[in-house]
Amino acid sequence: MDTIYINGGRPLRGTLAVQGSKNAVLPLLAAAAAVPGKTVLLHCPPIRDVAVTRALLHGLGVSSCRHGDAIELDAASAVGTAPDAVLAGQLRSSVLLLGALIGRHGSAEIPLPGGCVLGARPLDLHLSGLEALGVRVVCEDGVLRCQGRPSGGTVRLPYPSVGATENLILAALGAAGPVCIHGAAKEPEIRDLAVFLNACGAQITGAGTGLVRIMPSPLHGASHRVLPDRMEAATWLCAAAATGGCLTLTELRPAHLRPVLEVLSRAGCDVTETETALTLRAGALTAPGTVVTGPYPAFPTDAQAPVMAALLLAEGLTRIEETVFENRFRHVPALRALGADIDCTGRTACVRGVKALHGAALTATDLRGAAAMVCAALSAQGESKITQAWHLERGYGQLIQRLRTLGAEIWMEPKQSPTRRTTWNRTESGRASGEP
Ligand code: EPZ
Repeated sequence: MDTIYINGGRPLRGTLAVQGSKNAVLPLLAAAAAVPGKTVLLHCPPIRDVAVTRALLHGLGVSSCRHGDAIELDAASAVGTAPDAVLAGQLRSSVLLLGALIGRHGSAEIPLPGGCVLGARPLDLHLSGLEALGVRVVCEDGVLRCQGRPSGGTVRLPYPSVGATENLILAALGAAGPVCIHGAAKEPEIRDLAVFLNACGAQITGAGTGLVRIMPSPLHGASHRVLPDRMEAATWLCAAAATGGCLTLTELRPAHLRPVLEVLSRAGCDVTETETALTLRAGALTAPGTVVTGPYPAFPTDAQAPVMAALLLAEGLTRIEETVFENRFRHVPALRALGADIDCTGRTACVRGVKALHGAALTATDLRGAAAMVCAALSAQGESKITQAWHLERGYGQLIQRLRTLGAEIWMEPKQSPTRRTTWNRTESGRASGEP
């Protein structure tokens, strides 16, 4: 998907089933490499990051095949400890193979990861945590070389890093004794990882709280249904709010979206929910006050850009403070090109509602920034064009088809011919053989 076009100004209406979570399935795929057996992940989203991760696993000897939204993996005879550098550089979550391979083999040579450029995104918390467990870590020529089976012990994270928590849980699977992680991240995706690993025989307690304990034990294969994607859900809700529409989402956990639902409700949306579904009816939006991002259960940083897009027409002043990443307002120039009134100072953006937005030519910058551009373009009068739209494919499966079911006028150019499909696309769409 190189470029997408949107003819905005139409309210989105309809129902969508939320896909499996990108930020849950990626650690789960890495975890499969730590399990000496066959595993099955259900409800896997058809996104590029999943295809790239499967290709990374394939290179380590972890075979996989996709049947619809199920991915079957077999790591029984996997011995690789050095994933492909080009593939690893395409996403941040390739760094989770560090913990998985240390946990399985006591050795890993991981190229430095890629992913959305939201700031420095260092790995110091990952590496100091592994060193606290006795793993020797050397970083040279862009490769993290780690040796040694983790000892038992305690790791104290000074910041609840999601990736560092996940990496340490994975490494602890192969530790010589119990591991305690203090200051762990509490995101629902971490609890989902522990649920899967415990189904594989691990003994993990406290996942989803700030204190996680891992008691090493033999692992075996298992199957697991991936958590619904709370960020995909947030994005569609923002698109409905931005366009004055009415959207029902099913197969999700509203409880995992509480801060986002509170902001949209404060802004004038009517939200009704059950345990696994919710309906948002957009009203005339007014500024909801100040929004501050933070580690779960605070307002999620990944919803910051889409929510900003939803509030561009909200009467009054909305202050958005981004406390997690130092460079996560990269989508603001594009929103201004659509006619938004946004002032940024450091990590604070002030959004003043305008009467209307107009179409413009935009360039996507990162996954959630691109999602914000889609939400805003859908609410703008006239046609918009978004280049570098491949960012979206990393985390939103079948985006065009799904928005079209809600009445969006959205298409891509050049029209993708069957011969132009990339390897990942054919594989993830499930239409081709299951090999990455
Ligand atoms: C995960 O990234 C998510 N990615 C991100 O989603 C999400 O924004 C982030 O968590 C925060 O919730 C996946 O799960 C694949 P962190 P991660 O480690 O693990 C700093 C999306 O759009 N930090 O919690 O990389 C870091 O620089 C993506 O789906 C260190 O300083 O996030 C950042 O400022 C984007 N040292 C903050 O902590 C470290 O060693 C949070 O990072 C690690 C992190």
